[in-house]
Amino acid sequence: MASGHGNIPEEVIESVLSRHDIVDTVGKVVHLTKRGKYLWGLCPFHSESTPSFTVTPDRGVFHCFGCGMGGNAIKFRMEIEGLSFPEAVKIMAEESDIPVPEGAGGIQSAHNPEIDRLLQAYEWSAKFYHYLLKNTEHGKAAMDYLRSRKFSDKMIDQFQIGFAPDRWDTLLQFLERRNFDLAEMERGGLLSARSEGKGYIDRFRGRIIFPIANRAGKVVAFAGRILGEGQPKYINSPESKLFNKSRILYNLHQSKASIRKTRQIVLFEGYGDVISAWESGVHNGVATMGTSLTENHASMIKALADEVVIAYDGDRAGQAAAMKTLSMLEAVDLRVKVAVLPGGMDPDEFVSEYGGERFREQIIESAVSTVKFKLIYLKKNHILLEEDGKIAYVKEALQVIASLHSSTEREVYLKEIASELELSYDSLKQDCNLLRASMQKNIPEGDNNDKRWNNGRHKKGRIQARALLPAYHSAERSLLSLMFQDGDAATYVNEHLGEDFNIDDHAAIAAYLYAYYAQGKQPDISRFLSSLQDDRLEKVAASISMMESPPDWSPQVLDDYIREVRKYPVQRMMDKKREEMIEAEKAGDFLRAAQIASEIIALDRQ
Ligand code: UTP
Ligand code: MN
Repeated sequence: MASGHGNIPEEVIESVLSRHDIVDTVGKVVHLTKRGKYLWGLCPFHSESTPSFTVTPDRGVFHCFGCGMGGNAIKFRMEIEGLSFPEAVKIMAEESDIPVPEGAGGIQSAHNPEIDRLLQAYEWSAKFYHYLLKNTEHGKAAMDYLRSRKFSDKMIDQFQIGFAPDRWDTLLQFLERRNFDLAEMERGGLLSARSEGKGYIDRFRGRIIFPIANRAGKVVAFAGRILGEGQPKYINSPESKLFNKSRILYNLHQSKASIRKTRQIVLFEGYGDVISAWESGVHNGVATMGTSLTENHASMIKALADEVVIAYDGDRAGQAAAMKTLSMLEAVDLRVKVAVLPGGMDPDEFVSEYGGERFREQIIESAVSTVKFKLIYLKKNHILLEEDGKIAYVKEALQVIASLHSSTEREVYLKEIASELELSYDSLKQDCNLLRASMQKNIPEGDNNDKRWNNGRHKKGRIQARALLPAYHSAERSLLSLMFQDGDAATYVNEHLGEDFNIDDHAAIAAYLYAYYAQGKQPDISRFLSSLQDDRLEKVAASISMMESPPDWSPQVLDDYIREVRKYPVQRMMDKKREEMIEAEKAGDFLRAAQIASEIIALDRQ
């Protein structure tokens, strides 16, 4: 069986799977509830309001009936955190002190040469731009600009900041001399195609270069900032085989050590913010890449930390973005705080104005609760000196406060508002309680956690979907399910059916399974999934492994299924013959029709 996992020894994969319980792994991200033999939760890979995501603890697999995603613990981490297989194994091994041999499973799928070449090109280009910034005449103006913004030499080195001169062919020549394929470099986002005629030009010209690294610390993209004012302020590498904006957090490779220790992440909007925060001693900072936070990001963060401090710009846009981000983070059950910056400043500006110590103490460590932040945010939208404004604000504020579960918390905020707006605490409290009562009445049944399970809607849909599968299809799934659980069952099926499954994916999974048992391995669906090396097969296999199947198999049971599987091609053949027979009759060729009829009878006997 192909074991193409780079060169990670199988023992390592096995230890990783045995030490990383599927329930713990998934449970960090998904709230799971036990029902029957599965644990259920809301799928982190697609949007849903009724759980169709399941975990089967004894088999070590997860599977979503909604979107079809499925696999073992390693697969889960890969998908949630945007990791390659070797990356996920290494990180998980590190977490449970499993030694990984030096050089095992080289970073980023060593089997894709185009990706390797692109990584090489990005690494060298980053060094080249960094060199040009620091040591050449070309970089002088950029260096002056960075100094004027108080970027220290140490930070310029640590974040490998560079400069792309304002010429068409600086990087082009550099890459050409190193024999890179220019079309490939264009696809990877380092060059642009000329708008007319043939050939390529540098994509980044006259810009400060911020290299963007993946989790493993490999540069996978650039962000290029214009010197001073002008539009567009940033040009970024396009999405590529290496670079997926919605899965990358700037600086995660450097901050992950601190994040692991503190279980906290500070989330910024800009590269400059991350860098000056770092210099101020905030070493758990990351930023999204000029996009708003995605569900992917939220899941990634959830897997890394318990608490997030949102430190977005103090301007209107930044605060509005913080409102959106905080609800996405709260939706995945993270503790969230918001750092409030004065006077529309961004963190970078605050640091250069007031210094790192004040930034740490007055901004990051003084971050407020999300409720407090929402109240501050709402207040800004109203003119409190006017009665109308005051009433409108109180109405919105009460909505926020009434949804708090803790009565102590509600009291704290109500008292604050009462004294701030010179209103009576008692009447505020009364309004708040009325609001709570009406909120509770309005909770729709479908969204009520306790009742949700009993409405039966969900379950029915699933069973119907399964019932629609043709008999041979279900039979193939049942066979594989039994084969997953028992090596002898697999041997029996191998002898009596081999790879004659009608569905290609099933045939492929069976072939892998025969090979798996041939190596003397024990039934272990989670381990088996890691040997598949194919996303689609993995999903199909995970879905099959979730089937209810009898604990024991007998040759009779298997024979019944095998007969069903074998019947299908025969039936198809018979259908075809019947059509031919009708055609022959229509054409008046009765001799031929009779001949076909006897063939059909023969087939039927089979
Ligand atoms: P900002 O405009 O706040 O930029 O955008 P900044 O990083 O603080 O830059 P300085 O301090 O003026 O140098 C915040 C983030 O939004 C993305 C970038 O990721 C930036 O860091 N962005 C902004 C773009 O991708 N393109 C743009 O044109 C502007
Ligand atoms: Mn900014």
